[in-house]
Amino acid sequence: MKISILYSSKTGKTERVAKLIEEGVKRVQGIEVKAMNLNEIDKEFIDDSKGIIFGTPTYYANMSWEMKKWIDESSSFNLEGKLGAAFSTANSIAGGSDIALLAILNHLMVKGMLVYSGGVAFGKPKTHLGYVHINEIVENEDENARIFGERIAKKVSQIF
Ligand SMILES: Cc1cc2nc3c(=O)[nH]c(=O)nc-3n(C[C@H](O)[C@H](O)[C@H](O)COP(=O)(O)O)c2cc1C
Repeated sequence: MKISILYSSKTGKTERVAKLIEEGVKRVQGIEVKAMNLNEIDKEFIDDSKGIIFGTPTYYANMSWEMKKWIDESSSFNLEGKLGAAFSTANSIAGGSDIALLAILNHLMVKGMLVYSGGVAFGKPKTHLGYVHINEIVENEDENARIFGERIAKKVSQIF
């Protein structure tokens, strides 16, 4: 079973987190995962994926324009019925990263995806809307990113 991680990243922070999430997804047996910058995607892999994790830097309390552009132009992709989840990176804790996540989740619902936060009930990291990585808070955060990836992969395995 496949999971795609799609992200945009200008200065590498979101890319770094995407790779950590990829490591977490790999902890679940039977899952093949690919983290892809929106600049260089593998359409066949995405179409074959049962889960897609979208990652964006927070731009003015919203998703990046690159992510919005990709979503707006994604009508040829088979997204219906797949599990969708989101993560964002941001410089500050009150910088609007949750709003960026909501903006993505809104679009995933319109696409007919099943939307999953990563499961707040499991405790830390308490991913209410998805995973948020604040650049100034680095201690223990890398493992939280991996745990998020693992949880999404487990849910994909359970559902499909
Ligand atoms: C145009 C622009 C707008 C940004 N707006 C915000 C913001 O509203 N809140 C915030 O916390 N950080 C903001 N940032 C910082 C980025 O979200 C943050 O540095 C992010 O981790 C960069 O990701 P990247 O290295 O993958 O490009 C902004 C950065 C840019 C370039």
